[in-house]
Amino acid sequence: MTRYAHITGWGMAVPERVLTNQDLEKIVDTNDGWIIDRTGIRERRIAGKNDTTASLATQAALRALHGTGVPADEIDLIIVATSSPEHLFPATASIVQDQIGASQAGAFDLLAACTGFIFALNMAAQAVRTGSIDNALVIGSETLSRVVNYQDRSTAILFGDGAGAFLIEGRDWPGGVLASVMRSDGSGGELLSIPAGGSYMPATLETVRENMHYIQMNGREVFRFATRVIASATREVIEEAGMRVEDISLVIPHQANLRIIEAAARGLKLPLDRFVVNIEKYGNTSTASIPIAFCEAWDQGRIRVGDNLVLVGFGAGLTWGALAMTLTEKERMLKVDGRRSTILVSRARLRSLGRRIGRRLDSLIFRTSSKSGD
Ligand code: ACO
Repeated sequence: MTRYAHITGWGMAVPERVLTNQDLEKIVDTNDGWIIDRTGIRERRIAGKNDTTASLATQAALRALHGTGVPADEIDLIIVATSSPEHLFPATASIVQDQIGASQAGAFDLLAACTGFIFALNMAAQAVRTGSIDNALVIGSETLSRVVNYQDRSTAILFGDGAGAFLIEGRDWPGGVLASVMRSDGSGGELLSIPAGGSYMPATLETVRENMHYIQMNGREVFRFATRVIASATREVIEEAGMRVEDISLVIPHQANLRIIEAAARGLKLPLDRFVVNIEKYGNTSTASIPIAFCEAWDQGRIRVGDNLVLVGFGAGLTWGALAMTLTEKERMLKVDGRRSTILVSRARLRSLGRRIGRRLDSLIFRTSSKSGD
């Protein structure tokens, strides 16, 4: 039977502390008018003393699980896409796995900068479709404020902290993740990087003194690259899903700069109101920006039953990617209606249990038959 990878739960978490453009005016040579005009950003959230990439990811993950009927100890896989991990290792995903009590899950981090959430979602969806796992938590989480140089006005104004998570589950009915595009051009790596702290330039007093552990960016070149790839990746994924641009209800783009989103809208000949834009509140939260935008669009009633959506991102690497998906009636019921959700969830749980038993039986039969072959 064909398996489909459905998005059945979602959640977000942002730190309480708000850093406005006016606050930034007091720190660095910039002004509210310039920031709004050139980026569309008015404020961003900044991690407090106790917020970390793993703690925000954990909150978002628990919110994504809430109301789905899937307990943490039935999660098969956790992928955290992040550019600001808790440590070089262990993986942030393993910390989340422990904190939510996902005792049966594998966990790893995925690094593709701001495109990371799209890549992670695609990887998880592929694994669900093959039947090798029944479900996965895909999380984008960042505390970029910890790697931003607040003396550098070209980056200090852009980035914010936050997390967003999706629960993906295997279902037998069509829908969910329909198609995806993943691309990279490593020749543009120097346009956006944190140069030190890895094996190429290990941390020394000198690297710290030279601010080499902070984000360095060639804004104009990244801007040019972004406007080119958002429209092309969106077009490509729509074609791969067998649809037309007119079939797409909403595009949820990575929130890096309002002007980049406006250029993409012009390139696709779509009105701006077909794009989810919330950059004014959060700035660029890298891997978290797409799931956060999704959660807010859902809460505002902008995502409806049967809608075809495109999620599209770009970032350091360089990397870019897009994913086409449909949210079906059943998923909406799962999230909204407790009574119907119990019935659907118990059916899904039974199926999941059946598959687990099936896998155990398979391995038992395999072991027995290899023994008898000895
Ligand atoms: N406040 C006031 N003036 C500023 C600021 C600031 N914060 N920053 C730059 N300026 C000045 C510059 O010094 C320059 O002045 P000059 O003309 O006297 O030399 C002028 O404004 C124009 O500078 P540009 O760099 O050309 O400004 P631009 O319009 O390109 O905007 C920006 C800069 C906002 C960074 C833009 O290039 C951009 O958004 N680029 C894309 C960045 C991006 O998306 N990065 C994230 C990728 S995702 C990831 O992987 C993390």
